[in-house]
Amino acid sequence: MQIPQDTINEIRERADIVEIVSRFVDLKRAGVNYKALCPFHEEKTPSFVVSPDKQIFHCFGCGRGGNIFSFLMEIEGVSFPEAVRELGKHYGIEVPSRPQPTDGSSQNESLYRVCDFAARWYHRQLVDKTTGGPTQRYLLDRGIPEEAWATFQLGYAGEGWDQFWQAARRRDVPIDVMTRVKLVVSSDKSTGYYDYFRQRLMFPIALLSGRVVAFGARTLDDGGQPKYLNSPESPIYAKRRILYGLHVARPAIRSERRAILVEGYTDCIALHLGGFQNTVASCGTAITAEHAGLLRRLTREVILMPDADPAGMDSALSSGSIFLAAGLDVRVVVLKAGLDPDSAIRLDRDKFAKNVGGALEYFAYLSYIMKDRAMSPRDKETLIQRVITGLGSSGDKLRYEVLAQEASKVLGIDPESLPKWRGPRGIQDAGRTDEVRRAEVPKRTRLEKMLLRLILESAPEAAAALDKLDPDDFSQDDCREFYKLLDSAWENHIDIRSKTFQQKAESAGLEGLAAEISLIPIPPGNPGILLKDTVRRVKELQIRDELNMLSEKLRILPEDSDEAIAVAKQFEMLKQALMEL
Ligand code: CTP
Ligand code: MN
Repeated sequence: MQIPQDTINEIRERADIVEIVSRFVDLKRAGVNYKALCPFHEEKTPSFVVSPDKQIFHCFGCGRGGNIFSFLMEIEGVSFPEAVRELGKHYGIEVPSRPQPTDGSSQNESLYRVCDFAARWYHRQLVDKTTGGPTQRYLLDRGIPEEAWATFQLGYAGEGWDQFWQAARRRDVPIDVMTRVKLVVSSDKSTGYYDYFRQRLMFPIALLSGRVVAFGARTLDDGGQPKYLNSPESPIYAKRRILYGLHVARPAIRSERRAILVEGYTDCIALHLGGFQNTVASCGTAITAEHAGLLRRLTREVILMPDADPAGMDSALSSGSIFLAAGLDVRVVVLKAGLDPDSAIRLDRDKFAKNVGGALEYFAYLSYIMKDRAMSPRDKETLIQRVITGLGSSGDKLRYEVLAQEASKVLGIDPESLPKWRGPRGIQDAGRTDEVRRAEVPKRTRLEKMLLRLILESAPEAAAALDKLDPDDFSQDDCREFYKLLDSAWENHIDIRSKTFQQKAESAGLEGLAAEISLIPIPPGNPGILLKDTVRRVKELQIRDELNMLSEKLRILPEDSDEAIAVAKQFEMLKQALMEL
């Protein structure tokens, strides 16, 4: 069932693009319109314009534009129905739900739904005294009161082996949907299935829109191993693009004009409770340029608050340099040795607040670390690498050079010895290193290979892309074969980054192409958006080529012949398809 046009129209009329865009971008009034730095590409002067009259946005820098639905689709990487649903929810307009998901985007939809169901189920297990008693006491002992359970939708994965599985089964959730997000795993004894998370405190991990896509699960007994069990990556969950608590922290990040980044789920919650609602956590994974991009859309400044141990400091140096490279101001809070943010704020809230106020600017922190540590030449080399690698993720040459210059001063090394900026590596730049080759390889071929590259790289969005494409979209035989291989691997739940897939590519004689593709540099920016864009562009080139062929045909066919009429008809249909891309 499609979403009725009436509902879409109702939402369009009710919704205000300025309000929605403001949740992501710092809009400034400019005459009848609003202006901002474009969230979709890097720029220094605002060319992103929102028109409240026309209810559209457009960026004069990168050319992206559209209505409120396309804005959400682009910025959150969601499908059209998902964007409609989100807005419906926001404006209190009921959107009829579709009973039978079939296409790629709704395949994801069923994954989102099972995660949402699981989060609510775990939450009920926690708030119900009979099942959640001990966990409730654990949370209260740690100073996490009931209202925080609701805000962060905390939960408890119950006793027993398959309670969640049974509950989901009663709701007719298909088993493969549960296993794809690893809420349920199949047992070795092939006797059936059991719950992946059992007897654990559950921290749902959500997208910016609040949709739950994964879980972190803490053991309740302090010696329990592993301390945290986490959902693996899935079609809807990419670690390199998610910050824990961002959907809760977003309004505070916007109003405070800065974000605080901690390492742990519990640190994040403790800071929210202590009045720092602009806090997010990195879920124990390394910070990526994409994380930085997420925050960069909301604010200009990030305050890092690492655990006060060597590992925490190292990760602050790495992530700090990535944030700097993304154009954010970075400061770092130095906690008393051995403390983490959770224990520090509990120990002395006032002192903690002062500490945040006195956070060191990144390079001052770097110099503090240099002085604080007795470092061997090898240690120093590692530290320099850490800093420079992060700075190198900058998409902007001047910014990189200024930062590298500054770093070399603090590090006490010759700026000349630092690596040169390696370029933004945009799609348009792929292959630019070799002008001759670039001229020889047709644009369509290059784009097809880039598309395959992006599919391989973007697990969460790959499914939708594979679904939208079909073999005829590819002009190159080997690319087409590779696409078919990817598509069938996906259908058969074979990880496209696994050895198994590699072997399949080899036995299909595609190892050369596989290697070539894996060497194509990935352009910066949101991979989901890039992938969608590239799918569109590949389809567009395919249609254009076909249109050219047809118009050649038309030129030589006798006018008014049946064949000419048929070709003309086809021509019109394709033109229509091109417009609808
Ligand atoms: N983490 C993880 N897996 C582990 C240990 C840690 O994924 N085995 C991640 C979690 O996201 C965790 C973060 O790293 O929140 C920080 O780890 P740690 O400091 O050990 O946990 P805390 O969240 O601070 O938990 P607690 O306060 O209960 O010790
Ligand atoms: Mn911790």
